[in-house]
Order: sequence, then structure tokens, then C-alpha cells
Amino acid sequence: MQTNNASSRILCPHLRGKIMSAEEAAALIPSGVNVGMSGFTGAGYPKAVPSTLAKRIMDANLHGKKFKIGVWTGASTAPELDGALAMVDGVEMRLPYQSDPTCRKRINAGEMEYIDIHLSHVAQFVWGGFLGKLDVAVVEVAGILEDGRLIPSSSVGNNKTWLDQADKIILEVNAWQNPHLEGMHDIYYGTALPPHRKPIPIVKTDDRIGEPYYRIDPNNVIAVVETNKADRNSPFTPPDANSKLIAGHILDFLQHEVKKGRLPANLLPLQSGVGNVANAVMAGLQDGPFENLTAYTEVLQDGMLDLIKCGKLTCASATSFSLSPAALEELNADLPRFKDSIILRPQEISNHPEVIRRLGVIAMNGLIEADIYGNVNSTHIMGTSIMNGIGGSGDFARNAFISIFMTPSSAKGGSVSCIVPMVSHVDHTEHDVQIIVTEQGLADLRGLAPKQRAKVVIEKCAHPNFRPALREYYDRALRYSPGRHTPHLLDEAYTFLPNWVANQTARAAWRDDATVQADAWAK
Ligand code: COA
Repeated sequence: MQTNNASSRILCPHLRGKIMSAEEAAALIPSGVNVGMSGFTGAGYPKAVPSTLAKRIMDANLHGKKFKIGVWTGASTAPELDGALAMVDGVEMRLPYQSDPTCRKRINAGEMEYIDIHLSHVAQFVWGGFLGKLDVAVVEVAGILEDGRLIPSSSVGNNKTWLDQADKIILEVNAWQNPHLEGMHDIYYGTALPPHRKPIPIVKTDDRIGEPYYRIDPNNVIAVVETNKADRNSPFTPPDANSKLIAGHILDFLQHEVKKGRLPANLLPLQSGVGNVANAVMAGLQDGPFENLTAYTEVLQDGMLDLIKCGKLTCASATSFSLSPAALEELNADLPRFKDSIILRPQEISNHPEVIRRLGVIAMNGLIEADIYGNVNSTHIMGTSIMNGIGGSGDFARNAFISIFMTPSSAKGGSVSCIVPMVSHVDHTEHDVQIIVTEQGLADLRGLAPKQRAKVVIEKCAHPNFRPALREYYDRALRYSPGRHTPHLLDEAYTFLPNWVANQTARAAWRDDATVQADAWAK
């Protein structure tokens, strides 16, 4: 299928009969329904129907009518989907992950509900009916075969589930998507709800256990829309000094583990999270000593593609591309070259706990704050405002062979410490966090009890500007905490968080109060 004309990619006569404009298709989506859309980190999202629907919602609003839908996706999408629908206040409930600024603003203003779910859980939640009924699926594909099967596009995400579960299906056939994507996907149809589950038969990252196409009932398709629009991802910022230091610490650690005989020379399958720091670590591996690497991950970012290009990474299994515009252009210019080394799977498989545990993945994810005992907050600012969501970080962290979390030691121009006494929201408990890395150093928490952890985290990871205050907190907690297993001064732990340096005076007053209180507890 070598064409960039959408029409000639629709080979099924029945579905050709359903071709219509985006406006006509959007008109088939009523207010109040749940819509499962394709899309994962700016790849493979529908490019025409959501923004057209947003215009319809705006019109309804102008006429004083309420028009809201539930929006379910694979993960984050792009301004044409999340941004457009959030802008017109058209989303009642959003799940399972977002990273759009307008969407985030609405959620944090209390105007949009958001369920932040482990990405591997979404399919079973939908099958189980916990999220309500899925009314419509709007899914981008790269083409339609004569028998109605669909060629997936640049992400898989939850599309198989949407196509299976929705009453009605709207397809966008995007001629921009590279025709060589055909054959790159592995869509597994063997999952089931308990008690009918069978083992997921993946024992190596490059095992293919499914088929390259989505199956559908063509009778459920109510519209087919032709598009020709590029995926939209943000460029990565080039690795800064801190990211390079973090990458260096991780590389040293991995080399040490190989030397100790705890990891093979080509490591174990890598998982790399979203964001600039994660991308920088992948870039660091390019200059590292490791060869024949593999990846069992969720998104394939620029750094991982570079590793494939330079021959260091032999196979990457993911659910989506998450490439900068430049990397995307390069990939599309030479896609057949990557066909043997990249597999795109449904997110219930790319993030499957059973497979992650079996393969012994090395998980590397970003964080917002970590506390001195190793609990990690990946999602909330000040414990109340969502940033993005947990995404797949929990799927990987809990089940990984080595679970690494990484961050610069401070944020917001150095005014906020990312190492705090107690996280203001917990996504990953101390039990799922083995390694914390900042530009200051790496804390290996494996085999350490809470008080041993606290010392290592403060000494290895905290920024020197905040280290003395953290030491002081910990020392006083050791003396005055009512329990000495995980010592804390509960009335003080959170007041450390904002503007730690700027609020010295206020905090000094606070500390006096807290000390009096702790003294009282100690008696
Ligand atoms: N307090 C306030 N803001 C903080 C902060 C803190 N302790 N730590 C980070 N931030 C802010 C940064 O200032 C930055 O804000 P900006 O966009 O306004 O500049 C933003 O959070 C992102 O931080 P950055 O240091 O650029 O890190 P990142 O791009 O690596 O992203 C996460 C870090 C945690 C937001 C990101 O990794 C994430 O969303 N993780 C959860 C999902 C996940 O792990 N998915 C992967 C699974 S496969």
C-alpha cells in the first residue's frame, strides 16, 4: 500500500461506502457519550474529528446548550485533540493520562474530572465496565484492507479495546502515516478477564504473539474520514548539564552491576519514561560500553531511536512512537530499515506486569519529588494539582528487576527541592523505588531499612542548598518522632515544601512551634 492518498488506502468496499467529511462524522457524536480515541504521546491520534467536534461543542455553548463528552485515550495526545476539546470545556471526564496545558488547567480548576490510571489497567477496567459504557471509538489507522481489517498507525495504545468495545466506530484513514508501518505491529487477541486468563507468551522482547492488524466488525463502522496530517510531538531540549550528570550516574551504576555479576553484559530490557531527562539517559547510553541492548518500554523517544541507528539497541518493543519532529522525519524517510527492530503492541501488553517481571526490565522514570525514605510523587505539584499522570511508571516500577527514578535535585530555578521530608502525594511507595538519581549522585536503596535510606537519599541526592535543612529535619525527627521506624515530624514535613529557601523566617517560627510540640509528644 504505497500511497499518500487516503482514498486509495481504503480497500474494503463496504467501508468505502462510509466515507464522509469530518463535519458529518463529528455530527454523529452526541453530548453525554464516552468516546475512546486513539493517540499516545502525540502519535496516532485522530487529526480531524476531535477538532471538528470541538467547533460543534463551541456552537452548542454559544446557544446556551451544555455539550460534554467523556474522552478516553491511550495516553496524552496533541493540541488538536486534548487542547481543542478542553478549550471549549467539552470534556466531562478524561482518562487515563494527559499532558496538555489547557486540559491540566481545567482539571486543576475543578472544571474537568480526571481519572489517572495505570496504563496497563485501562483495558480490563473497560472490559469490566468500571468506567461506564464506551459508546464511540474514534481511531486513526494507516489503511483498511479489503476484508475490513485495519492497519494500525504510529501508536497502538488502547485501540484494540476501543474497537472491540465501542458500539460505534469512526475511522480516520491518515495518508500521512507511513505505509511501511504495515507489519510493524503485534496486536494480541489472547487477553481475557479472570478466571479465564492464560499466560502472555512473551519471553523475549522481540517475540511476536499476535497479528499485524486490528480486527473489527465492519457493521459497527458509522463513518470513515480521510485525512493527511502529520503527528505532532514536541521537540526535546538537548540534554543539559544536569541530565548528562544523571545519565553518567546511571551508566556507572549499570556498569557496576555488570561487574558484580548482577546484570548481563548487554543489561536487561530497558524501559525509559517520558520527558527530557529520560531522553538524555538514552543519549548517554550511546557513548556507553553496552552493546546488543534491548528495550521493553512504553514509548520510543529520540534517544532510543538513536541507539537503534548506531547499532547498540537491537530491538525495541513499545506501544507508541514519541519522537521530535526531526527524528520523526528521519524515521519516516527510512522506515523499512527499522522494521525488524521495532514492535508496537497494545498498551495492555507493552505495560503488562507479568511480562515486565518475566523479562526483568530495568525501569527508568522521572519524578516530581522523592522523600528521604524513598516514596515518589510523579504526578502532583504541592499534593493537589496534577501535572500529567502516573502513565505507565507504576506498571514498570513495581514489576521491574531494577526500578530507577531520576530527577534534577531542584526545580523552578533552584527554589524548590525535589528531595523532601515527605512527598505531598504518593505514586510509588518506598517498596517500589530501588534507586533514586539526581545530578548530585545515586542512592541505591536496595536492602536498606528506612533510617538507612534517609541518610543515603539526603547525602547522595539532595542539592547542597537544601541538604543542611534536610539533615536538620531528619536529626530532629530522630529525636522527637513518636515512632522511630520511619521518623517524621508530621506537622512540619509539608511546610518544608514551597519556597524553602525564601521562607526561612516563617519556617524558623514554625520550627520553634514544631519543636515544642515534638517535645510534648516525646514526654
Ligand atoms: N515542584 C514543582 N515543580 C516541579 C517539581 C517540583 N518538585 N519537579 C519538577 N517540576 C516541574 C518542572 O519545573 C517542570 O515544569 P515546567 O514544565 O513548567 O518547566 C516540569 O515539572 C517537568 O519537570 P522536568 O524536570 O522538565 O522533568 P521531565 O520532563 O523529566 O518530567 C515528570 C518529569 C515527573 C513530570 C514526568 O516524568 C512525568 O509526567 N512522569 C509521570 C508519567 C511517567 O513516568 N510516564 C512514563 C511511564 S512509561
